[in-house]
Amino acid sequence: MQKIPLGIEPAAESLGLELRPGEAHYRAYVGPPDDYDLVAAMALGLLTILGLRQQHRLLDIGCGSLRIGRLLIPYLNRGGYTGLEPNEWLVHEGIQSEVGQDLIDIKQPRFVYSDSASELLAEGGKYDYLLAQSIFSHCGMDLLDQWLAQASGLLGESGALVATYISSDTDTERRGWIYPECVVFTSKTLDALARRHGLEFVPLDWHHPRQSWVVFAKPGFEADWYRDRRLSWNACFDRFNDRRQVHADV
Ligand SMILES: C[S@@+](CC[C@H](N)C(=O)[O-])C[C@H]1O[C@@H](n2cnc3c(N)ncnc32)[C@H](O)[C@@H]1O
Repeated sequence: MQKIPLGIEPAAESLGLELRPGEAHYRAYVGPPDDYDLVAAMALGLLTILGLRQQHRLLDIGCGSLRIGRLLIPYLNRGGYTGLEPNEWLVHEGIQSEVGQDLIDIKQPRFVYSDSASELLAEGGKYDYLLAQSIFSHCGMDLLDQWLAQASGLLGESGALVATYISSDTDTERRGWIYPECVVFTSKTLDALARRHGLEFVPLDWHHPRQSWVVFAKPGFEADWYRDRRLSWNACFDRFNDRRQVHADV
């Protein structure tokens, strides 16, 4: 067996740590490169506590360079992950630098290179979870409204869109896609838009370094269990254990 000599360091990765958000590097383009790791951990932790399991189908809206996709693709069963992204180069660089072609071959995620879900809506497939991490912080009111309408059409009756936005006491007056600058909304506006599309707006107590997490829930999504308690792994497991007990009793 070939021995790897001690003291030989692997070649350095290009992490883009010196770059500003929005610059043309696969990590920097999607946000501050210094917390590329933390944003991924934060999102996977939240999704799993909200009930994401291996058999679910998830659509990652604006998946970028697979910052979060690189954790979701192995977690979900084969074909469970779909990433939608208008900037194709980001997905290619994410696969090349973070995921590897082998994982793509094994897990067979799907990628849709578009700034809208119209192709997916036309196919009629339904998703258990949609993720929009740092997407609504770059959408004017018109685009936010369009994304919530599309989300409503893509989700199954017990599905949920898990998203971030920048909370403020005013709403942006800008329209369309705004990048890399950010825009803000009031929770009242998001609540009203959600209702218009048959979704329930449920703010979440889950720390984000710059934004706020929220669930836009379909009527059948179980949002009640965390309305009056902190989101935690233990609380999440209490629910699973209650169900397991039911199975064990049968
Ligand atoms: C701030 S980055 C977030 C990327 C990814 N969600 C993450 O958290 O790593 C925003 C992403 O949205 C993509 N995007 C651009 N136009 C979009 C649109 N109209 N709708 C959704 N996403 C869009 C960008 O190319 C970029 O990858």
